[in-house]
Amino acid sequence: MKKIVIKCGGSILDELTPSFFASLKELQNDGYQLVFVHGGGPDINKMLSMYQVEPEFHNGLRKTTEETLEVVELVLSGQTNRKLVQKLTENGFQAIGLNGSDGGLLQADFIDKDSLGFVGEIIKVNDELVSILIQESMIPVITPIAVHKATGHKLNINADYAAAAVASAIGAEQCIFVTDVKGILVEEKLVHSVEKEQVEKYIEDGTIYGGMIPKVTSAMSALDKGLSSVMIVSGKAAFFNGKEWKGTKIIGKEWSYNE
Ligand SMILES: Nc1ncnc2c1ncn2[C@@H]1O[C@H](COP(=O)(O)OP(=O)(O)OP(=O)(O)O)[C@@H](O)[C@H]1O
Ligand SMILES: [Mg+2]
Repeated sequence: MKKIVIKCGGSILDELTPSFFASLKELQNDGYQLVFVHGGGPDINKMLSMYQVEPEFHNGLRKTTEETLEVVELVLSGQTNRKLVQKLTENGFQAIGLNGSDGGLLQADFIDKDSLGFVGEIIKVNDELVSILIQESMIPVITPIAVHKATGHKLNINADYAAAAVASAIGAEQCIFVTDVKGILVEEKLVHSVEKEQVEKYIEDGTIYGGMIPKVTSAMSALDKGLSSVMIVSGKAAFFNGKEWKGTKIIGKEWSYNE
């Protein structure tokens, strides 16, 4: 069974176009089982501003106090997940929303409690749960909130990291990051493919910044863990027509020499 994990950015959720959903149909026709992980940055920031909390980021990761975590879960599970499940349903897909903290789906540990607070990195995924659903032709739509491996406390997970971790845990062939830009832009031009070393340079010189950083770093770690392809694509246009992909392909080192 070919599996693909699609991370849908909160940045694009309200602007997904019919051609985006047509690309999903093409993936299914091509034999892919779809699994979604969603973000929700803009919805979270809107809600935080109502609570008069200023968002704070370190290298694209949201600093999360216990208070912020409550807002994050309220918005991600109660609003953003619902929105994506609804859009998939309207477009003829059988989607089912799941909180990453349900059934031990996402298990995590703190990244750095002092500087980031309740932010985790995933150490285990209940891939059985995902398998059961996709075998029933359901599309899981996962909210990136995890439980701490020992205490069961909830942790906020960057959705890009969560998607890459789910992709390698379920043995997905591909992981794609759907966002509000066409891919990695350098001097406003789309880069069609880029190698790991170059990505590291782009982060160093500031060409890649903010929310693009967790995307490319999780893309690189997914490649290291054996995924065959990782792409960054736009949710505003078709990204797959049955043969060709549109966006930026991140290439692991050994792949670049084989191609
Ligand atoms: N070199 C680059 N090329 C393109 N976009 C870049 C680059 N460097 C930084 N970015 C920024 O990364 C943003 C995408 O990441 P962002 O975290 O904002 O969205 P997302 O991950 O799709 O949504 P969410 O965080 O809600 O899940 C772009 O809108 C752009 O501002
Ligand atoms: Mg993001």
